[in-house]
Amino acid sequence: MDRLRAVHEVTVANPRVPEQRAAFFAALSTVHGLIGASYPIDPSVLALAPCLEVVSSVSVGVDNYDRPALRQRGIVLTHTPGVLTETTADTLFALLMACSRRVVELANHVRDGHWNAAIDETLFGWDVHGKTLGILGFGRIGQAVARRGALGFGMPVVYHHPRVVSCPELADKALAVSQAELLSRADFLVLTLPLTVETRGLMNAERLAAMKSGAILINGSRGAVVDEAALLASLDRGHLRAAGLDVFAVEPLPLDSPLRRHPGVTAFPHIGSATHETRHAMAELATSNLLQALAGERPISAVD
Ligand code: DGY
Repeated sequence: MDRLRAVHEVTVANPRVPEQRAAFFAALSTVHGLIGASYPIDPSVLALAPCLEVVSSVSVGVDNYDRPALRQRGIVLTHTPGVLTETTADTLFALLMACSRRVVELANHVRDGHWNAAIDETLFGWDVHGKTLGILGFGRIGQAVARRGALGFGMPVVYHHPRVVSCPELADKALAVSQAELLSRADFLVLTLPLTVETRGLMNAERLAAMKSGAILINGSRGAVVDEAALLASLDRGHLRAAGLDVFAVEPLPLDSPLRRHPGVTAFPHIGSATHETRHAMAELATSNLLQALAGERPISAVD
């Protein structure tokens, strides 16, 4: 805020907070830049912002923004890749460990006073080390998850990515395979791809059924990549063992969502990058992007 206020007039208003909504929409008529995250910027919002030059998103994902509409208006869109890679990979590995070793369930077992005797096999978990780690979407975050699995847990890694990617650190430890082979081989399948027209609903009933029996699905991309009803059906049938989800089709997850209490689901409140250090780094980068673009310079991380 200090960096922004030193150069520009700043209005702080969150359109999701009912008391601040009017202020946000009123400010649109004069703003040159927007900075924030997770609020959809579509043609109806753009129509109210005739002077807008830059949208600086404090996120790596940019599925909330109507990119063709922004491009048509010549509005620069920036985001915050890189600074959140390792933290997001930590979160996804935490979900993977939590699902396989039943961390939340067993911690609650103690907390709720049920630890009266040594646990038996009904509460045993499943090994992580040595199992096959599958990554769908082998960008920065996917590669960072793969490094944790391959170098830390001795996991063979298979991945699928739409383009050829080079990852020298994992040269002999991660194998590019077809999507079908990935689904059939992975004991853990981690989704780290952006939400696009091509990836929406990608993990449908058919692809979930093509996953290895007893596999665990981890979603750190966007909720809409997975058909949630089909996922629940697969868990209920016992085909998939568990799912670790940081993202959902509707966020916050509605109270009546069956995903909230399903015994096979470990759900996080979209916290991939949510550490003090990383959110601060994202805010700094988003601020630099905004200031640079408003000054007519090339921003560090422009999307379009
Ligand atoms: C990101 O950076 O895209 C996170 O998922 C927050 O939206």
